Amino acid sequence: MRLRGRPGLVVAMGSAAAVLLLLYCAFPQWQVLRAIAFYSPWRITQQLYKLDVGWPKHPEYFTGQPFCVAVDPLDDLVYVAQRGDNVPKVLVFSEEGYFLNSWNSTLEMPHGISAVNTPTSSSIWITDVGTGEYGHTVKQFSRSGKLIQVLGTPGKAGSALNPLQFDQPAEIFVEQTGEIYIVDGDGGMNNRLFKLSPDFKELWLRGGNGTGVGQFKIPHSVTVDTVGRVWVADRGNKRIQVFDKVTGEWLGSWSSCFVEDGPSSVRFTPDEKYLIVAQLNINRVYVLAAPPVGSIGDCNVVDTIQLADMVKPHLVDVNVKTGAIYVAEIGAQQVQKYVPLN
Ligand SMILES: *[C@@H]1O[C@H](CO)[C@@H](O)[C@H](O)[C@H]1NC(C)=O
Ligand SMILES: *[C@@H]1O[C@H](CO)[C@@H](O)[C@H](O)[C@H]1NC(C)=O
Repeated sequence: MRLRGRPGLVVAMGSAAAVLLLLYCAFPQWQVLRAIAFYSPWRITQQLYKLDVGWPKHPEYFTGQPFCVAVDPLDDLVYVAQRGDNVPKVLVFSEEGYFLNSWNSTLEMPHGISAVNTPTSSSIWITDVGTGEYGHTVKQFSRSGKLIQVLGTPGKAGSALNPLQFDQPAEIFVEQTGEIYIVDGDGGMNNRLFKLSPDFKELWLRGGNGTGVGQFKIPHSVTVDTVGRVWVADRGNKRIQVFDKVTGEWLGSWSSCFVEDGPSSVRFTPDEKYLIVAQLNINRVYVLAAPPVGSIGDCNVVDTIQLADMVKPHLVDVNVKTGAIYVAEIGAQQVQKYVPLN
């Protein structure tokens, strides 16, 4: 099914709307209230983003299911990794939406993607959850698609750190210093977060399968802020957990925003005021307020982008220069771009 070009329906549901909704549930005879709660065009929360309907220029290049997207702020290129038989696995677009080129090498089932710039190199990292001869790996490519580095044991699911073995690695985040954070994984046996040095030595490991503090069920996405906190979308446990990047110590957890569906992505806006979080099964992208240094507290919704049914936003990325948000939608089989209004 194609839902091409379907603009995301933007609905703001602030706390006032929630109160109206609650009142309506308690007093369903209040038809007027229902009309206000469901049909009123006025917004309670700020609207911070709008859909860029002109991106990309030619959506027909999405021939498979786009699972992830990464923006390289150095040259404003957008990398989309898609799955499918006989489709190019990585599509490269300009930030204006023009298709530039594609590449394939050794990719089976891309899951997460990051564009990484360190003082010495620029590259694209992709996690591959395939079950064939190249799967269960995290791979580094040059920007033109040349395979540079493979972490993990290709074709073999495992849980060891030496030699590295993954089971459906979900996402990788690399700091400018070259330090690496991996969430492993998207299902599978491991359910762990770990940090590697730039030369791929284990620095610390957290997790294990479970619902307890610091445990995970499908750790699906990872990012690090500039004050040294590691944010993990613990999708199956319907929470975001936060860790200290130096020690791996658990710092806190957010769950009240994820009662309906777990978070599937975590990315910060350039000013780190907000965290952009997708919810796959309820077709929603949340803009959450980032907490101050030294306190995690609980989550606080600032804006909501409500997408149409079955769009299924999987992973997102933010251009750290322009603040534009790109959403990889596996149901709608497209990537959409949202631009900040201010
Ligand atoms: C990648 O794979 C697809 C499907 O197998 C093929 O059509 C395409 O030519 C390949 N190469 C590139 C650069 O996309
Ligand atoms: C994780 O734990 C749950 C409940 O204890 C169990 O049902 C599930 O199979 C476990 N998953 C893995 C991957 O071990």
